[in-house]
Amino acid sequence: MARELTEVGVVGLGTMGAGIVEVLARAGLSVTAVDVDDDAVARGRAHVEQSTERAVTRGKLEDADRTAILERVRYTTTLADLGSAELVVEAVPERMDLKAQLFAELDRICPPDTILATNTSSLSVTALSVATGRPSKVIGMHFFNPAPVMKLVEIVRTVVTEPGVVEDVEALAARLGKVDVTIGDKAGFIANALLFGYLNHAVEMVENRYASREDVDAAMRLGCGLPMGPLALMDLIGIDTAYEILQTMYQQSRDRLHAPRPLIKQMMTAGLLGRKSGRGFYTYA
Ligand code: CAA
Repeated sequence: MARELTEVGVVGLGTMGAGIVEVLARAGLSVTAVDVDDDAVARGRAHVEQSTERAVTRGKLEDADRTAILERVRYTTTLADLGSAELVVEAVPERMDLKAQLFAELDRICPPDTILATNTSSLSVTALSVATGRPSKVIGMHFFNPAPVMKLVEIVRTVVTEPGVVEDVEALAARLGKVDVTIGDKAGFIANALLFGYLNHAVEMVENRYASREDVDAAMRLGCGLPMGPLALMDLIGIDTAYEILQTMYQQSRDRLHAPRPLIKQMMTAGLLGRKSGRGFYTYA
């Protein structure tokens, strides 16, 4: 029978990490939320507070429930505070060196049966697992942006992930109100493997001045019924994150579909990172 997890940790409080903290706390779990410095922690806390406040304003959440959710989260810059977590979800930037180093540290800090999950969207979960002394307890738990809204979690099992760990994480996903798909370890898993070639192609159309960004987005929203067009979606995902994902997928597949368009790199260098920086393909107030 699946283990009922009650105490969990999240490392990395960017857009995804903060969203994951909210999802876990909303489901009644005690969450230790960690980032590298006070500023990063403050940004993560503000993200969770604003998101839950908006839910109260929209009449989707009682004020008392919001207070209870916020009280279930403990913020810290000390990784060692994860010493009693039963599961840790890592959501730091998409760099293998960074993630592998973090997993090695988590392996030292956490009890041997703690599940170490990564929210990576394209890096190899298997490669990360061998940075620890417990590869069988390492799994992918890939959420989608915005995490409190999107229903899917991709659960990524490697060739050595214990079946019991997969069951525990599937049970957790259900408690979070998510639908899971469980898959093997291949860059992009299901959703990003299908999505990012399309996003890259949309950028190419704009880069070549074949179509305007508004027209590309309108075509996909109004012609194909998607909730947002590809360029607005790139801004939501973050131009830097999109670049990292494409780059990793390209390195694995060598399919030019995934070779990041030069415009993406240029925007990243210029600091046009999408919604989080106030400007990407569009400008945000
Ligand atoms: N955090 C929390 N809640 C949010 C939110 C956020 N950032 N953004 C929107 N919401 C909530 C709103 O509060 C609202 O909730 P209620 O219906 O309960 O009131 C609901 O979502 C709808 O929001 P809006 O009415 O403001 O706007 P919308 O109807 O246009 O929906 C959207 C916004 C949910 C983002 C929608 O446009 C959408 O689904 N877009 C596609 C998103 C997508 O494809 N995400 C996947 C990206 S790929 C990825 O994440 C993988 C990866 O590895 C990069």
